[in-house]
Amino acid sequence: MESKEMYQDFLPLLGTDYVEFYVGNAKQAAHYYKTAFGYQNYAYSGPETGDKEKVSYVLMQDKVRLILTTPLHSDSEIAAHVHKHGDGVKAIALTVADAYDAFEQTVKRGAKPYMQPHTIQDEDGEIRMSGIHIYGDTVHLFVERKNYKGIFMPGFRKLENSYNPTSVGLKYIDHCVGNVGWNQMNTWVSFYEEVMGFKNILTFDDKQISTEYSALMSKVMSNGNGFVKFPINEPAEGKKKSQVEEYLDFYKDAGVQHIAIATDNIVDTVTQLSSRGVEFLNIPSTYYDDLLDRIGPIDEDVEPLKKLGILVDRDEEGYLLQIFTKPVEDRPTLFFEIIQRKGAKSFGAGNFKALFEALEREQDLRGNL
Ligand code: FE2
Repeated sequence: MESKEMYQDFLPLLGTDYVEFYVGNAKQAAHYYKTAFGYQNYAYSGPETGDKEKVSYVLMQDKVRLILTTPLHSDSEIAAHVHKHGDGVKAIALTVADAYDAFEQTVKRGAKPYMQPHTIQDEDGEIRMSGIHIYGDTVHLFVERKNYKGIFMPGFRKLENSYNPTSVGLKYIDHCVGNVGWNQMNTWVSFYEEVMGFKNILTFDDKQISTEYSALMSKVMSNGNGFVKFPINEPAEGKKKSQVEEYLDFYKDAGVQHIAIATDNIVDTVTQLSSRGVEFLNIPSTYYDDLLDRIGPIDEDVEPLKKLGILVDRDEEGYLLQIFTKPVEDRPTLFFEIIQRKGAKSFGAGNFKALFEALEREQDLRGNL
């Protein structure tokens, strides 16, 4: 163990600031995320606020902020992104104390610059921002907002309308997972270690994560204070095409595979999400037959977990409950995880097999297995 005095975090992160999606139609996507996932109106930018190139809706639920951005013209970088990838995550923005220093520290360690450090101001103060490239066309933005009192950031106004479905109890982003190409995992593990100062806290190899047909490898990267965790997946050889390969075939590049969002009451949250039309992976009912023998006593009744398809896993520190949506686009790309932690700090490795068999059934229905 390194002593506190010895270890200096050169990139202190305060958490995930927001996740920005580039989408084909942000107006409709905002309606979907409000209706289906319980996000609330927060901020808006577009022609009315002086941006003639794009429209962005910022939605919020407790600490989770999503931005849905769409191009207004076909000859833009955003339009090219949507054309290539379909709807997907462009930016994972991280809140930092100093956006200029975050850029300098990461770029001098080898990060490719995406956004030069700059300051944007209005009467409510200033936001300082910068950004670097990560895998595929995805980027990290560094956002310094300690001197800003307004709505989201300069250029945005409050988003208000009469349609305001209730929240479903989503609290904060627990982790964001990236899928990278064949033999690329260690490149990105090194990137997070050397450029971002993260540590590899967990590793799963293809022997642990394989089914009869397909396999993948995964490493979990965490920043110094543990506020930000990025598992990275790479496909592994199996008898048939792995789910990571299917993602890469349709996203056309490395990219964000899933975003896990925490709740304090997964049974309640998932009941609401299901009734609002969110589709989850179906888990075979046999998974629940010997559940308590496998994972020990839990506070929840098994019956509602079985009815909703919620998975349970235990580690040395406690247990966790989790469930995965089907992809939220027609391309089999990004999906969401809903997670409730009851002490466990891991990621549900014990569920990987049941989960991947469920994923493969879906993949087979699409003819991509
Ligand atoms: Fe996850």
